[in-house]
Amino acid sequence: MLITADIAKVRRIIQQARLKGKKVGFVPTMGALHQGHLSLVKASNRQSDFTVVSIFVNPLQFGPKEDLKKYPRRFKPDRKLLKKEKVDLLFYPSAKDLYPKDFSISVSEGQLSKFLCGISRPGHFKGVCTVVTKLFNIIQPDQAYFGQKDCQQARIIRRLVRDLNFPLEIKVLPTVRESDGLALSSRNQYLNPKQRKDARVIYQALRLAKKDIQNGQRNPARIIKAMRQRLSSVKSLKIDYLEIANAESLNKLKTIKGKVLITLAVYLAKVRLIDNIILNVD
Ligand code: PAJ
Repeated sequence: MLITADIAKVRRIIQQARLKGKKVGFVPTMGALHQGHLSLVKASNRQSDFTVVSIFVNPLQFGPKEDLKKYPRRFKPDRKLLKKEKVDLLFYPSAKDLYPKDFSISVSEGQLSKFLCGISRPGHFKGVCTVVTKLFNIIQPDQAYFGQKDCQQARIIRRLVRDLNFPLEIKVLPTVRESDGLALSSRNQYLNPKQRKDARVIYQALRLAKKDIQNGQRNPARIIKAMRQRLSSVKSLKIDYLEIANAESLNKLKTIKGKVLITLAVYLAKVRLIDNIILNVD
């Protein structure tokens, strides 16, 4: 596995692979890798001939009061995991490599970013779109892999690719979970044992919604009420948002129909966790 922060070198190596007729798959990450990230790497390995992973904790997508400084950085174990997966190239830039001091261009999405996480994390998706645009321009992959876990991000990246005509395909893969249902996240390591146990209620609430819908419930307000009740069993949990929306437009639904996204963000003490499920309802 080649490891470099050198953009010119990355371009050279990838160009060589492409000249050999190889299809390039790309998995952007912020590191502290877990099986969720690795599921994307494995998919890229299956579907591409040359897999590139980036590890970059992107300062642009963190708000002033967020956890940029504290965000877990685990280069050595990450490198080991990626080597084991036989990744071809690890792009590991620093902020200096990607953002010159007078960096002054950004990419913002103006519709889907207005909902959900975009409300509680102003500027977040602008930071994501900007860094992903840069990474796509550097790597120029044939396909790029994202997780359903960050459903709004995946939706916005698809829009970015469509609206700015990036010649690549976005693949979105299912959320990988712990055996008790908690979605894997680099931020789970902030949880103490009690909070970790309490965090199970997030997926329980999503499962409850799924069951209600399977039982015929079509009123989003009723489902949300039941979910809130379930979540309130954990006293230290604060709901940031809890919404039922159209999975494509992210608009709130008045009735449960079509591709339905049930999504939430909660704080457990100071740790912000997100999760979602998508259901196809006739
Ligand atoms: P990060 O949080 O490191 O996530 C990298 C990718 O892994 C994202 O596409 C995310 O949706 C996916 N992922 C995280 N947890 C997952 C899980 N439990 N199951 C499946 N996939 C999961 O998302 C980012 O980094 C950044 O915003 C980035 C796109 C790299 C831009 O900086």
